[in-house]
Amino acid sequence: MTEQNRVLLIVSGGIAACKCPELIRLLKRRGFEVRCILTRGGARFITPMTLAALSGDKVYEDLFSLTDESEMGHIRLTRQAGLVLVAPATANIMARMANGIADDLATTALLAAKVPIMAAPAMNVAMWEHPATRDNIETLKRRGVRLVGPTEGEMACGEWGMGRMAEPPDIAEAVEDLLLGGGGKMSAMKKLKGRRALVTSGPTLEAIDPVRYIANRSSGKQGHAIAAAIAGQGADTTLVSGPTRQPDPERVKVVHVETAVEMLAACERELPVDIAVCAAAVSDWRAAKPSAQKIKKTGKKSTASLALIENPDILGSLCAAGERRPRLVVGFAAETEKVIENAAAKRKAKGCDWIVANDVSKGSGVSGVMGADTNTVHLITSDGAESWPEMTKTEVGLKLALRIADALEFET
Ligand code: C5P
Repeated sequence: MTEQNRVLLIVSGGIAACKCPELIRLLKRRGFEVRCILTRGGARFITPMTLAALSGDKVYEDLFSLTDESEMGHIRLTRQAGLVLVAPATANIMARMANGIADDLATTALLAAKVPIMAAPAMNVAMWEHPATRDNIETLKRRGVRLVGPTEGEMACGEWGMGRMAEPPDIAEAVEDLLLGGGGKMSAMKKLKGRRALVTSGPTLEAIDPVRYIANRSSGKQGHAIAAAIAGQGADTTLVSGPTRQPDPERVKVVHVETAVEMLAACERELPVDIAVCAAAVSDWRAAKPSAQKIKKTGKKSTASLALIENPDILGSLCAAGERRPRLVVGFAAETEKVIENAAAKRKAKGCDWIVANDVSKGSGVSGVMGADTNTVHLITSDGAESWPEMTKTEVGLKLALRIADALEFET
């Protein structure tokens, strides 16, 4: 994870703070990590617990908390982000920013920030139009603070006018433009523009009868994070996913399927693509003859047996697609022992370019690793194995997307 993908969100005290959950969700779906500072006023509108649950990180509130200062000083908070976003930005916090006042954690961090600052103002129309606010806005703009919004509309107080906070999708778009789009001097170009990518994710469900099925514990978190990160780098991305609880990532075409056979057909329809990442936990078998009716107990204490047949290997089929083979095919391997050795053998056997081996022994059992937010992986290529430290699945997605971009750039 680079600073470019980290946003430090300062939530100050306005009714628009209730839009922050949506904003955090949208930023995360675009592949950003979000860490929050909540002002005392902000905490009257939204709880730290809500922000912590959505951002997946501790929420920072108190400048003088000794543990916060020892674990993460206010200087480091801003150094580890690519952008500080103040949303909502009240008239009060902008006045303090404009005047260099640092009397709480939020304004101290803002004064210490060397990275770009973006503010989404939100206030009553009279406050927005007040000469004091106008002056403060001019000062902040002159110093390079980017503003997104406000917009015109009905205010929480019932009045109509300028001062509504910009909508979360517009703020998320502005953040992405600043951090990843062309233009600003802090920005990096999107590295996969013009490429087409296909990602598989989640488990497959294989019917035994109309009510029962064979499935597995895959959460889809890793596959979805990879699709979001690849799309975040500008690739035209399709995610073919089995049933999961993950929201559809932003700017990704999502094809929902149930079975391995459906997943293979959906993948084949997407060809040709430049990149294929098979992160789905495809069921190896399906019922040979799914019953049209619910299978009844016999009443006798007998054992039952189920005939299974092998499912198609989607990764293998993509690798063997001849002229339609994606230029870079990446598979996954969940291993519990001899991780690198087994994954390297799988890379050869499947005929894919890279294997991401996730070490499922480094957790509390297979189900724990499969549903967890972090992953410990090794990237196996023809050059050997590279071990990545434990990171969030979002970070793994971003790192992999950047590695893919580098590999394709090198090739052409
Ligand atoms: O063969 P195994 O299941 O260990 O291989 C894992 C890799 O193969 C993953 O990338 C998975 O998405 C892919 N796979 C597949 N179709 C299958 C089985 C596995 O695409 N039927």
